Amino acid sequence: MKEATIQLPRQMSTLAADIDSMYYFIFWVSVVFFVAIVGAAIWCMIEFRASKNPQATPPGHHDVLELFWTFAPLILLIPMFHYGFKGYVQAMVAPSDAIEVRVRGKQWAWDFYYPGDTEPSPAELVVPVGRPVKMSMSSQDVLHSFFIPEFRVKRDVVPGMYSSVWWEALETTSTYNAATNKVEGEALDLFCTEYCGRSHSQMLAKVHVVSDADYKAFIAGKDKAPEGKDLAEVGAELYKKNACNTCHSIDGSALVGPSFKGLFGKNESFEDGSSSPADENYLRQSILQPQAKIVKGFAGKNMPPFVLKDWKLDALIAYIKSVK
Ligand code: CUA
Repeated sequence: MKEATIQLPRQMSTLAADIDSMYYFIFWVSVVFFVAIVGAAIWCMIEFRASKNPQATPPGHHDVLELFWTFAPLILLIPMFHYGFKGYVQAMVAPSDAIEVRVRGKQWAWDFYYPGDTEPSPAELVVPVGRPVKMSMSSQDVLHSFFIPEFRVKRDVVPGMYSSVWWEALETTSTYNAATNKVEGEALDLFCTEYCGRSHSQMLAKVHVVSDADYKAFIAGKDKAPEGKDLAEVGAELYKKNACNTCHSIDGSALVGPSFKGLFGKNESFEDGSSSPADENYLRQSILQPQAKIVKGFAGKNMPPFVLKDWKLDALIAYIKSVK
């Protein structure tokens, strides 16, 4: 990894070195031309000053000179286009094995969905070192722009379409502490670089680069059961968080699906004529594969199958048991 220079922040991704060489090439070509053109202009002002040349002597046409300043820039522009286009394609097309994180920009925050997530993790992005990571981005409202200077990635985040950036980080910035379930270290800054309204300048997030093992532990811990809490209480939160309450009441009233009140242990009759007691296995199956057994009177309601971790299933079942 190369440290920061006076012009550019440190290079933290595999894309950075090529982008920076391109930048410096264009920068130094510009410096040389600036000095040459301004130098020639100053020299001409002195050499052809009015006091020394009272009589104007306009120059004639010079073919060689004309050809030189037509083709010299072309020779410089060809490599600029070639390396620029190559770099653009490299930056736009993520490797197929990249970890894909969904990003949603909204006024004025960033939400991240790790693979498989349905719930967003706001304001903090954790990525592994040495692996390609792709951001699949969209906006919920207005135009935003996703910019992480150290990775040399920047792209508009647009409502109504997806855009993406990817990178492979070169070094870790942080470590994951399993005991506190927190990521600690010198995070990189993620900026929004499109003026998106009043609090645009506050639309920031932290980007932590961690080891592969830490990343796995973070992903596993992210959804870890809260400790020291009553299981039924945790289940009550999940009941709301997963929006079970929109279809299943706890007061006995029938919404879209059967009420949870007094459900546990009850003998349930099904559409196919069979019946079984509503025990743990029945509840578990009804969450994971809702169409396996359809309670009499609820045909055609089509609850979607839920993908939940075992501790969440345990908590929900404990909660349903508690609704007497
Ligand atoms: Cu979002 Cu500025």
